[in-house]
Amino acid sequence: MAYSWFKAFHIIGIVVWFAGLFYLVRLFIYHVEAEQEPEPARTILKKQYQIMELRLYRIITTPGMLVTVAMAIGLVSTEPEVLKQGWLHFKLLFVAILLAYHHYCGRLMKKLANNECRWTGQQLRALNEAPTVMLVVIVLLAVFKNNLPTDITAWGILGLIIFMAVTIQLYAKKRKRDKEQLMAQINQVPQEQS
Ligand code: HEM
Repeated sequence: MAYSWFKAFHIIGIVVWFAGLFYLVRLFIYHVEAEQEPEPARTILKKQYQIMELRLYRIITTPGMLVTVAMAIGLVSTEPEVLKQGWLHFKLLFVAILLAYHHYCGRLMKKLANNECRWTGQQLRALNEAPTVMLVVIVLLAVFKNNLPTDITAWGILGLIIFMAVTIQLYAKKRKRDKEQLMAQINQVPQEQS
């Protein structure tokens, strides 16, 4: 019974953790792109994003991570023999990468607050795909364990995920280009009038 409770809250923790991770880097994107806004909008927006990022990191993302890890410890201490299984070793490898990503997001947040972040909005968009990859791999390992499927359906799903990620990147690029063209047109109008 305890095992099921740990597992239930392990999954709840994962949902909260990932909601935080995904939204955090999205806020970083808006934060970096606020640099292109004229004053006083730039300062106001940056200050607001800084507050939102800090709250999200401290109140949602980090507690989500702590619940996930605490419940995982509960799971393995209830059934220690699971620690001998190969799938869990692989899973732990990806969890370690995910924890490093979480920590790096915290550092990026501080850099943004100090105006030291060198990432562009486009690069941050690509970075935001990393937790998706980790999520897919870890959940597949947790569900299929040592019998990861390698049939046509599995490859089809993998292809679909890659296709979706590439489409999102291309769409973001197109929107950025459209916005730049629009701004160029808006800036041209007053020059033609004068
Ligand atoms: C902190 C290190 C972690 C450890 C030691 C760990 C360990 C475990 C264990 C022992 C189970 C129970 C497996 C079973 O009885 O079927 C489990 C379930 C699960 N874990 Fe983790 N986990 C960790 C982190 C994560 C993370 C980060 C994710 C997601 C990104 C995740 C996703 C899942 C899922 C979806 C299940 C349910 C699988 C099922 O019931 O079929 N785990 N985990």
